[in-house]
Amino acid sequence: FQPKYLRGLKMLVTAGPTFERIDAVRGITNSSSGKMGFAIAKAAADAGAELTLVAGPTMLCTPYGVRRINVVSAQDMLAAVNAEVAKIDIFVSVAAVADYHVLNQSEHKIKKDANILTLELAPNPDILANVASLADPPFCVGFAAESENLLDYAEAKRRRKKLPLLAANLVQQAIGADDNEVILLDDDGQHRLPRAAKEEVARAIVKHAARLYNKYHPE
Ligand code: C5P
Repeated sequence: FQPKYLRGLKMLVTAGPTFERIDAVRGITNSSSGKMGFAIAKAAADAGAELTLVAGPTMLCTPYGVRRINVVSAQDMLAAVNAEVAKIDIFVSVAAVADYHVLNQSEHKIKKDANILTLELAPNPDILANVASLADPPFCVGFAAESENLLDYAEAKRRRKKLPLLAANLVQQAIGADDNEVILLDDDGQHRLPRAAKEEVARAIVKHAARLYNKYHPE
């Protein structure tokens, strides 16, 4: 690989959690620091990709040279991704998208009392599955965080969402941590990456994605 092996390619990365509003001050979210997604964005930008990062709420700084679009909810993230998707070659979906949004949202802060409060939750769209099932999809890379049966669940997810590449990790080892242990799943099987700092893991994932992309899109 040349140092700028992604030059000329346009990439879109989603990162961080989404936040689903309950009322003026409360909401539902997922545990995700955004570190893995931001590290992927940095590794790809360093390798020469033209990078757009769609980020849910996180305190992280934008990597150098990356165009960032901030979003809050899964619906916002879907809209941002849909607006970009026709322009890109590679989509890496690292975001921990909330699976539900609140139907009975309240504009004002709900006053607490002794009664039981019931939230109605409706499923969110699956952004990655939508993109991967487009007529002419970009090369799609997914992530799967599982707490058990990692490889079975992750491979089932890769097939269901029609992904050429999926990075699987155990939540217990990944969330909030600075390092990570990832297994890559593709049509050739499993590729275990050594446990390392998220920056290093990100560089290995981006390289593997580039290798596969080149295989599927020979010049
Ligand atoms: O189904 P699950 O959420 O475990 O799948 C994880 C993968 O799908 C991740 O790559 C995540 O970014 C993506 N995803 C998505 N939209 C959702 C749920 C997950 O893009 N609503």
